Amino acid sequence: MLNVVVCVSGGGTNLQAILDAVESGKITNTRIAGVISNNAGAYALERAKAKKIPAVCISPKEYETREAFNQALLQGVDELKPDLIVLAGFLVNIPAEMVQAYRGRIINIHPSLIPSFCGKGYYGLKVHEGVLARGVKVTGATVHFVDEGTDTGPIICQKAVCVKQDDTPKVLQQRVMEEAEWQLLPQAIDWIANGRVQIQDGKVFIK
Ligand code: GAR
Repeated sequence: MLNVVVCVSGGGTNLQAILDAVESGKITNTRIAGVISNNAGAYALERAKAKKIPAVCISPKEYETREAFNQALLQGVDELKPDLIVLAGFLVNIPAEMVQAYRGRIINIHPSLIPSFCGKGYYGLKVHEGVLARGVKVTGATVHFVDEGTDTGPIICQKAVCVKQDDTPKVLQQRVMEEAEWQLLPQAIDWIANGRVQIQDGKVFIK
């Protein structure tokens, strides 16, 4: 069984897609050990509690320094003994110590086709605002491993989504979630849980 910790910051629709996929059997060989949020008000915590999954908040506001928060976050994750950490809308820079301790065992979902509209400053709605401002006709979502950079790790899977002329950032965000994110993230977890994902020379191969 793959022991998974999911880190969240907001609404938690990606978390919900994971929980539903575990329940329906779309994700096999997987147990969600816990959910961690940096934001006490995150609705994602309610979604976890509704499924009786341990859910905690570790907020930077409760620590005097970033270093102290980083340590608390790493300790909170360690306690759940994860085989895989899933960043499902977790809008916190992952501390280098955590990347080192869990190299190749942290994945993130990003709401664009990396390497477009990613990196510093591109998160949540800002990604979709950037897409509409540039006028691209196709966007999408990406699941990738996390390394020391921002959205730079090996790419596991991607799915394209059409941009429509009258889209607003919110309308586009919803379409990217429905048509791409909620499928890609469960799929990536299922592949990892079943030993199908290999990294070679910085690239991912699916067996
Ligand atoms: C999702 O669109 C996710 O891709 C994005 O935040 C949203 C969280 O929604 N993540 C990033 O932008 C990471 N750079 P959710 O809380 O409803 O799953």
